[in-house]
Amino acid sequence: MSQRKTYELGDELPIHGQQDAVIQYLWTRRSSLAVNLVSPGPNQEQLQDLLTIAARVPDHRRLTPFRFIVIEGEGRSTLGDKCLQIALSQNPELPEAIQRLEQQRFMRAPTVVAVAYSPKNDGKTPEWEQTLSCGACCYNLLLAANASGFGAQWITEWLTYSPELADSLGLLDHERIAGFIYIGTNSERLKERARPAISDLITRI
Ligand SMILES: Cc1cc2nc3c(=O)[nH]c(=O)nc-3n(C[C@H](O)[C@H](O)[C@H](O)COP(=O)(O)O)c2cc1C
Repeated sequence: MSQRKTYELGDELPIHGQQDAVIQYLWTRRSSLAVNLVSPGPNQEQLQDLLTIAARVPDHRRLTPFRFIVIEGEGRSTLGDKCLQIALSQNPELPEAIQRLEQQRFMRAPTVVAVAYSPKNDGKTPEWEQTLSCGACCYNLLLAANASGFGAQWITEWLTYSPELADSLGLLDHERIAGFIYIGTNSERLKERARPAISDLITRI
């Protein structure tokens, strides 16, 4: 159970004034590289909190168009076996180094969360809006992991688009992977990355 204060439906929430630490964090935030994420990852209580925060995103009509599949411990290797099997079925001549890479994909970080996009058909809410909400959920998980002192990266790679892997993850027919969020402790200091010139992105009416 999280040690944090929980709020019941209708409770007044805290008033947030200027949060310099949050702004400073957002100003400098960066994704890690999954290969640089080492143990420890979040413990079970921390992970529960991260997922709770991740799910706290704008979501038109509260359809919750996402769910989480946690891949940890031995599960990473078991799923790696499946990746290797799929990769070999597509190319039996796969060089040994690549075979190793496929088998160890999920071992790059102590914790991997597959965020499944799970849209609902309520006859009213455009699927596009649900897609956006699911993307926000992935990003919120990155932010929550960072703000808890972990490094994280949102990765798709070929696995995301593999129907065979979708089966192994237990996805339903209408679901798909939005991304794998790798979470762990940064083994390397993060460096600045090129960013767009903001003036190029803004028009005014
Ligand atoms: C939907 C999505 C899929 C991504 N897939 C990959 C990927 O497969 N491999 C990769 O190296 N980076 C991938 N990235 C990029 C990284 O998550 C990240 O954006 C990049 O490392 C720089 O991030 P930063 O600007 O947050 O530091 C993906 C990003 C998004 C939004």
